[in-house]
Amino acid sequence: MSDAPPNAEQVRNWNEVSGPTWVRMQAQLDAQLAQAGRLMLAALGPRPGERALDVGCGCGATSLALAEAVGPTGRVVGVDISREMLARAGERAAAAGLPTVTFVEADAQEHAFPPASFDVVASRFGVMFFDAPAKAFRALGAALVPGGRLAFVCWQAVERNPIMSLASRAAAAVIAMPPRPAARAPGPFAFAEPDNVAEVLGDAGFVDVSVTPWEGTMLAGGTTDLDAATEFALRVGPVAGALRQAGSDAEPAVRDAVKRALAARWTADGAHLEASLWIVTARRPETA
Ligand SMILES: C[S@@+](CC[C@H](N)C(=O)[O-])C[C@H]1O[C@@H](n2cnc3c(N)ncnc32)[C@H](O)[C@@H]1O
Repeated sequence: MSDAPPNAEQVRNWNEVSGPTWVRMQAQLDAQLAQAGRLMLAALGPRPGERALDVGCGCGATSLALAEAVGPTGRVVGVDISREMLARAGERAAAAGLPTVTFVEADAQEHAFPPASFDVVASRFGVMFFDAPAKAFRALGAALVPGGRLAFVCWQAVERNPIMSLASRAAAAVIAMPPRPAARAPGPFAFAEPDNVAEVLGDAGFVDVSVTPWEGTMLAGGTTDLDAATEFALRVGPVAGALRQAGSDAEPAVRDAVKRALAARWTADGAHLEASLWIVTARRPETA
């Protein structure tokens, strides 16, 4: 048993490694992930006046979209463990003139949200990083009013997501890639198994759980510029980790391999790579 506090590795990663990169690449990430956010919002159906919690809100794209949806009589709280990403989210809310959005730096798994204080809980790719998922969802369920709604999007298996694996596969030809995390380990693919997602939510007390597949494409790196897409692929995800390990001497060969892989899928408007998601919805029961 480790004595580390809950989610210690995620707190470190999202503050010291991935978080700063997500801030730097925020516009490209939001462009790549925009459709996933729209799918999540459509499944959630936020209404004017509702109170919404955005879990793992990162740089705030979905918090801002939720704020538009719930309007001036609603309110939105974004929760995240990454100080730098929250700072960006706060700047964006201020720039958008959305005073109904606030942000909280906290571990959503451990935080004592005021009981029954939200009508809806939402997340775009922010709920797969908990080391105790059922505990986390019990906390989120308790923050919902009876009958309150949950909706999130998460990734299906990596094999079904060239958008997430094309660069890694290309880089693996020229550099040692980190081993894949174990199934269900905290990380982007922790919720790849739909039966497990349903079980976690059921164990956490949610009802009417639905896990619906979505298959489509996403614009690699959110850009129509091949060099920008290549740079994105080198900085976000497992290739970035492998490059940190290998050192800068390895970078030119990796860059070349990744650029060639992207170029092979390039069209007049960028590389549209296959993506597979689960759209998950559930509800807190009306009565405990
Ligand atoms: C893949 S990013 C998604 C960010 C954002 N939802 C988006 O779509 O742009 C995952 C986010 O979850 C946050 N996160 C990870 N573990 C968390 C936890 N235990 N509590 C709150 N946020 C967490 C990370 O800091 C990061 O911002």
